[in-house]
Amino acid sequence: MHITSKLPATETTIFTVMSALARQYNAINLGQGFPDFDCDEGLRKLVSKYLNDGKNQYCPMAGLLDLREAIAQKIERSYGTIVNPETEICVTAGATQALFTAISAFVHSGDEVIIFEPAYDSYTPSIQVAGGIPKPYRMTLPDYAIDWNIVENMVTDKTKMILINTPHNPTGTILKESDLLALEQIVKDKNIIVLSDEVYEHLIYDEEKHQSVLRFPNLFRQSLAVYSFGKTFHSTGWKIGYCVGPEHLIQEFKNIHQWNVFSVNSFTQYALAEHLQNPESYEYLPQFFQAKRNLLNERLKETPLKAQLSKGTYFQLYNYENISQEKDTEFAKYLTQEIGVASIPLSPFYTNPPDDKVVRLCFAKKEETLEKAAERLSKL
Ligand SMILES: Cc1ncc(COP(=O)(O)O)c(C=O)c1O
Repeated sequence: MHITSKLPATETTIFTVMSALARQYNAINLGQGFPDFDCDEGLRKLVSKYLNDGKNQYCPMAGLLDLREAIAQKIERSYGTIVNPETEICVTAGATQALFTAISAFVHSGDEVIIFEPAYDSYTPSIQVAGGIPKPYRMTLPDYAIDWNIVENMVTDKTKMILINTPHNPTGTILKESDLLALEQIVKDKNIIVLSDEVYEHLIYDEEKHQSVLRFPNLFRQSLAVYSFGKTFHSTGWKIGYCVGPEHLIQEFKNIHQWNVFSVNSFTQYALAEHLQNPESYEYLPQFFQAKRNLLNERLKETPLKAQLSKGTYFQLYNYENISQEKDTEFAKYLTQEIGVASIPLSPFYTNPPDDKVVRLCFAKKEETLEKAAERLSKL
C-alpha cells in the first residue's frame, strides 16, 4: 500500500532525542518542560472523589458547565473581562488539541498563518495538516523582540491567522501592552484571526502583568485564546485545557471539536471546577516559580553561562558563547554527556535557525534537582 504522508518532514522531536540522551548518560533532565514534583494533594483527592462518585460518563460537548463557569470567574478576576460560559468557552484535551482544532476550523488550503519562531513544535505541523502555509517571523538575540512593522508587511490577502505565544516558550520573553496594541492595529478590519497561546499565563515574574488578548476588547472580537490546566496545576499528563473567544468563533471551533474529541474526560472536569473556586490555587504561581528561577540563576552566577533573564514560563535561556562556538545542538549534547545536565537547543524551533549560542533549561523542578544540576554546571 502506498501512503502519502501529510507531514513527510516530521522527525523525532528534540525532546525525545534529548531525554533519551539524558537517560543514556544519567544526566539531570532540565530539558523537558514538566515538573518533577507532584500536583496539589487536594486536587488529586478531588479527582479520585469524583471518579469514585460515578462521574464517569460523557460531559457536555463544550465542557461541564460548572467548569466553564469557574473558568469565566477566573478570567474576570485575572483580566477584568466578562466572558459568557455558555457560548465563549470550550474545554479541550489540553492546549495542543485546542490549537489544532482552532487551526483546523479556520485555516483552509493555501491560507497563510504568521508564526513567531522559535515556535512551539506543534504549530507548523498543525497548519500543514490543514493545508495552510506557515509564514515564520524570526525572533533572535539580543532580546527576541518583534518588529510589528515587519509583521505588517508579512500580511497578504492570504493571511488567515496570526499565532502568538506569551509568555513565550522557549525564550521566556513576554509581550507588552504595546505589542498587543500594535497587533490589534494590524488585524483591525481584516479577516484575520489571532490565535493566542497563553498556556503560561500565570508564570510571569518581576511584577509584570500577563497581556492576554482577553484584556483588549477590540482584539478579543477576532481572537481565540488557549490555556492548559496541565501548566497551571502541575499536571501535564492529564491533558486538559480550554479555548476562549467570541461566540461567532467558538461556535465554529466547537463545530470541529465535536468531531475529533466530542467531550473531554469527565471526572477531572468536576475536580477542576471545584479546585478553581479557590483563586489561591493559581495566584501563588508567580512567586513560586520566580523563586525557582532566581535559585538557578543565583547558583549559576559564577559560571560562564549568561542568563537571558526569563520574564515568564518555566524556561530560562543561557548564552554559552563564553564557553564554546559550537552549534547549539552540539553544545546541548556536550552538556548532557560531559557535564550531566540535559538542556534543549533552540535551533529545532526554527525553520531557518540563527547562529545564536543559547540553550534552554527548565526550572520547574524541586530545589534539590536545581541545586544538583547547578553543582554539575559549575564545572563549566
Ligand atoms: C507554548 C505551549 N503551548 C502549548 C503546549 C501544550 O500544552 P498541553 O500539554 O496542555 O497540550 C505547551 C506544552 O509544553 C507549550 O509549551
